[in-house]
Amino acid sequence: KEVDYSLCWLEYSKIDDEPYREKLSKVVKNIIAVGQDKFTQTAVEELKTAVTSLVGFEPEVSKEALCGDNPISGIIVGNVTDALIMKYISDDEIQKLDEEGYVIKSVKENPGLVVIGSKNGHGLVYGAFSFIKHIQLKRDVEEVHIIDNPKCKLRLLNHWDNMDGTVERGYAGRSIFFCDNKVTNSLGRIKDYARLLSSIGINGVVINNVNVNKNAIWLITPKYLGDLAKLADVFRQYGIKIYLSINFASPIYIGKLKTADPLDEDVIKWWKETAKTIYEYIPDFGGFLVKADSEFNPGPYKFGRDHADGANMLAEALAPYGGIVIWRCFVYNCTQDWRDTKTDRAKAAYDIFKPLDGKFAENVVLQVKYGPMDFQVREPVSPLFGGLERTNQLIELQITQEYTGQQIDLCYLATMWKEVLEFDTYAKGPESKVKYVVDGTLFNNKYSGFAGVSNVGSDKNWTGHWLAQANLYAFGMLAWDHSFTPEEIAREWCVRALTNDPFAVETIVSMLMRSWRVYEKYTAPLGIGWMVTPHTHYGPSVDGYEYSKWGTYHRADTKAIGIDRSVKSGTGFAGQYHRENAAMFESMETCPEELLLFFHRVPYDYVLKSGETLIQHIYNTHFEGAEEAEKLKEDWVKIKDYIRKDIYEDVLERFNRQIENAKEWRDVVNSYFYRKTGIPDKYGRKIY
Ligand code: GCU
Repeated sequence: KEVDYSLCWLEYSKIDDEPYREKLSKVVKNIIAVGQDKFTQTAVEELKTAVTSLVGFEPEVSKEALCGDNPISGIIVGNVTDALIMKYISDDEIQKLDEEGYVIKSVKENPGLVVIGSKNGHGLVYGAFSFIKHIQLKRDVEEVHIIDNPKCKLRLLNHWDNMDGTVERGYAGRSIFFCDNKVTNSLGRIKDYARLLSSIGINGVVINNVNVNKNAIWLITPKYLGDLAKLADVFRQYGIKIYLSINFASPIYIGKLKTADPLDEDVIKWWKETAKTIYEYIPDFGGFLVKADSEFNPGPYKFGRDHADGANMLAEALAPYGGIVIWRCFVYNCTQDWRDTKTDRAKAAYDIFKPLDGKFAENVVLQVKYGPMDFQVREPVSPLFGGLERTNQLIELQITQEYTGQQIDLCYLATMWKEVLEFDTYAKGPESKVKYVVDGTLFNNKYSGFAGVSNVGSDKNWTGHWLAQANLYAFGMLAWDHSFTPEEIAREWCVRALTNDPFAVETIVSMLMRSWRVYEKYTAPLGIGWMVTPHTHYGPSVDGYEYSKWGTYHRADTKAIGIDRSVKSGTGFAGQYHRENAAMFESMETCPEELLLFFHRVPYDYVLKSGETLIQHIYNTHFEGAEEAEKLKEDWVKIKDYIRKDIYEDVLERFNRQIENAKEWRDVVNSYFYRKTGIPDKYGRKIY
């Protein structure tokens, strides 16, 4: 089928290793579909498509084993309760399977036979994609034995798509869901999107922006539900539910009520009726995502209620249908006066939500950004992880690179995410890592997992920068299983999506692996963040937010920079962590240096562990960062022959822009601090 966009890691170019193809052919020539349900059909269809392209012939699909009930070779796909599958999969193996898990097994006694089984349909689709990956990575099919379950229950993408077709913080073209205030009818592309997502284990998509206004308010009404149901049908086939962001004041806008007070009888009734209607159209609707009392969006505060009142009221409306409410903790005062040094945006979420711990209904999940601010290139982990002990929670990561280069600059985020997931909260003593909070095991939560702000749009490569596909891929992989390393994910993605030449693969993996640190070096230093151009958030503007009414400050003067967030002398933010971390962040000596300016106000001549002063460190990292950005491009040029021409050219153009951006950052930041302090670079490099 010809499409005008890439299929990313499902592109399936023919395997060029003849002996491997030979060996494989025996297994993949037959597909035996045991069940008749739609998931089995999806799994079979996917296997068929993949084999046809990867191996070069179309497999035979049959409903029964070819030679009686003892087939000679092929792939059997079916439920583990089915007799044919049970023949090959042991009880012990079945025991190990969760609801969405799958088993893939090459049957030793019957060479050439591979069984893919699951307890329910979703698992079969995951199993099919996993087997396809196995082939793409040229792993031995005769040795395959995988029992795999997702570690997290909710693996969601948040799209910040507006109904006019624009995407808030989108850097990859227009929305794939909406155009001209209508829901798309290009369902072919939606299907390919569902395939991509399902192949990395995503099981839910919130399709509209968290800032819900104008037409989007009406998405929860019959005006749009018919079209949304068609989208849901496509996603359902791949085990993905759709969710909607809602406006908390909808009862006023749509229902013409006088209030949206969550304790008002009419409001409660209105939401119940609304939920009922939604489920008539979409029986497996996932639920609502809510940004309330945040950045000018209405919420329960407007009516004198708290967040638990608001979330629980919606939860009650969705509960009869199995829906959930995902309530964001991104709540803070966005117009803090610069004279007010006591208010601290970093503290806001914990101050507001910690007292509500344990008060949320069981189908409410709080969605917490990984850091206490807003997706900066470096932030401490939000103290709500480990702070909330009796509340379901999701970690919110930003796949779209709002503050990390906007898919112009290369920034592989899995390295950062991994650090966040490995952070030990000490909530229940050592080994209370964030990864165990978000997989639900630490506090035994009913719902938990990952939400990622999508980096996808209508661009032919989906993500603007071809290499930014790796971020989408990595998000899915980590949400499925946080024990994967960023490096193995990068390598896998690269082989599946770009090239399998070993030199090229290792070059790209190395580029991806260092890219976050490179980006960090040429932008805001040591965790201070925010030195970006206001509103657009690309390119440097050291004082852009310092003198705006948005109230996000670094407070640089001629002597020092940084915010004292210690308990002893600062805003007290450090005290929101459990004892071990609170103590670590409290003192300048033990605070991790990459977060020094986040937690402390530091004089420019303070000597860091490297032996360099703070000011010299700022100069050094900015010179290095800009140089390393050039190195990224040099590496790319070296592998030209192994990359498809159009991809090579597109990426090259991005690197040229990144180099310019990095130089601009270097010069703006260095000159700013040089002029503020009057301290020259000890190596005499050019500073304006
Ligand atoms: C950031 C971003 C906004 C977005 C907000 C959110 O502040 O700049 O565009 O709406 O996050 O997460 O709600």
